[in-house]
Amino acid sequence: MTPSDVKATLSFSDGSPSMDLPIYKGSIGPDVIDIRKLYGQTGKFTYDPGFLSTASCNSTITYIDGDKGELLYRGYPIEQLAQNCDFLETCHLLLYGDLPDEAQKKDFTARVSNHTMVNEQMQFFLRGFRRDAHPMAIMTGLVGALSAFYHDSTDINNPVHREIAAIRLIAKMPTLVSMAYKYTQGQPYMYPRNKLSYAANFMHLMFANPCEEYEQNDVLVRAMDRIFILHADHEQNASTSTVRLCGSSGTNPFAAIAAGVACLWGPAHGGANEAALNMLGDIQKMGGVEKIGEFIKQVKDKNSTVKLMGFGHRVYKNYDPRAKLMRETCHEVLGALGLQNDPLFKLAMALEKIALEDDYFVSRKLYPNVDFYSGIVQRAIGIPVPLFTAIFALARTVGWIAQLNEMIGDPEYKIGRPRQLYVGSVARDVKPITQR
Ligand code: ACO
Repeated sequence: MTPSDVKATLSFSDGSPSMDLPIYKGSIGPDVIDIRKLYGQTGKFTYDPGFLSTASCNSTITYIDGDKGELLYRGYPIEQLAQNCDFLETCHLLLYGDLPDEAQKKDFTARVSNHTMVNEQMQFFLRGFRRDAHPMAIMTGLVGALSAFYHDSTDINNPVHREIAAIRLIAKMPTLVSMAYKYTQGQPYMYPRNKLSYAANFMHLMFANPCEEYEQNDVLVRAMDRIFILHADHEQNASTSTVRLCGSSGTNPFAAIAAGVACLWGPAHGGANEAALNMLGDIQKMGGVEKIGEFIKQVKDKNSTVKLMGFGHRVYKNYDPRAKLMRETCHEVLGALGLQNDPLFKLAMALEKIALEDDYFVSRKLYPNVDFYSGIVQRAIGIPVPLFTAIFALARTVGWIAQLNEMIGDPEYKIGRPRQLYVGSVARDVKPITQR
């Protein structure tokens, strides 16, 4: 980290001695004030629930400028990656720091392809679930269970183990997500086809059956690949921070990624694409475009808990750049499938237009995020709504691993252990039960 010439000085109004705090400069983005010695020198903690002003690590992977609506993976703008690269190239970039050349791409693709199958025992593990289980409940279990199958890659402190665990996770996630889907449908699991691209293999795993070949549609494969690229990493969001925190105890990579899957499930995070599509369905049932005004009124009502799902973001205070790309993909997919008049898409467009002009949303800088469109695209591809977040988890796995490996490789890393402001009872004595 590069120290700045400027220092921050913390002073106290009760006459306690002031303290100089070093400031570090990032390559872009806000500087950080280093408060690591604060407690030792002053006996005080900082208070920042929700990490509104706290950098939990330094990272070279992803940069977001929320005001500009800019997203860079290893310095490359997301728009350029989405136009010019495929998902496995993006994985190589996130994991190793740069885009692969042709030979590196061939080698990386071969390494990933070699690990697409899962242990045959995995299907018996799946059988323990109810057929109507939510795919994210299944995925949390399956990903955690990988650590029971791959004992040779569970030492997080061993770089060789970390590398093989990374490749295994990226390779096996499509197989596991499709198994979670096929199980709920009562259909046989499909084996991966290693000659296909990563996204085409996923479509095969999902939609082929042993009786019929699945005919790939290039537009849909490209859309799937783009969904993967756009969701691959997003710096220190809730699930990534969960993976880092979980991994900081030295647990194995599969367990740490399972923790990320669990966190992603929440509707304020990865579950928003499912929630956004369900919301569109509810408005449609209420009467469609005609009822948008009524719905927006509920959203703005301070006493209601209704939110415009797929809108708003902790970091983006401008249009989410991923939403722009997803919107474009949405048009392509609906065009290719002849669904331009899809009522939910028309409703989404009308809702977006109204929300972008409404002062409530404008003044709070609430713009559509990626989830607003990704649900419509996935639904058009034929992916059932409850599987949306599992697909997000598939795509985000590479980001989680890249972030986890970066943390373990950082000589300054420590077990994550936040402190608290205790406001509970002071010490008191336990009375015998008859006197309580
Ligand atoms: N609909 C209506 N009002 C909203 C919305 C929304 N989607 N999002 C934020 N607001 C309002 C809040 O009520 C608050 O209003 P107030 O100042 O009058 O109290 C103000 O905007 C600020 O919102 P916060 O909740 O403080 O913003 P925060 O950064 O904590 O939350 C979050 C961000 C969780 C994403 C929020 O915008 C949200 O719940 N959005 C809907 C869910 C969603 O789409 N999540 C996907 C995130 S992207 C991703 O994970 C890929």
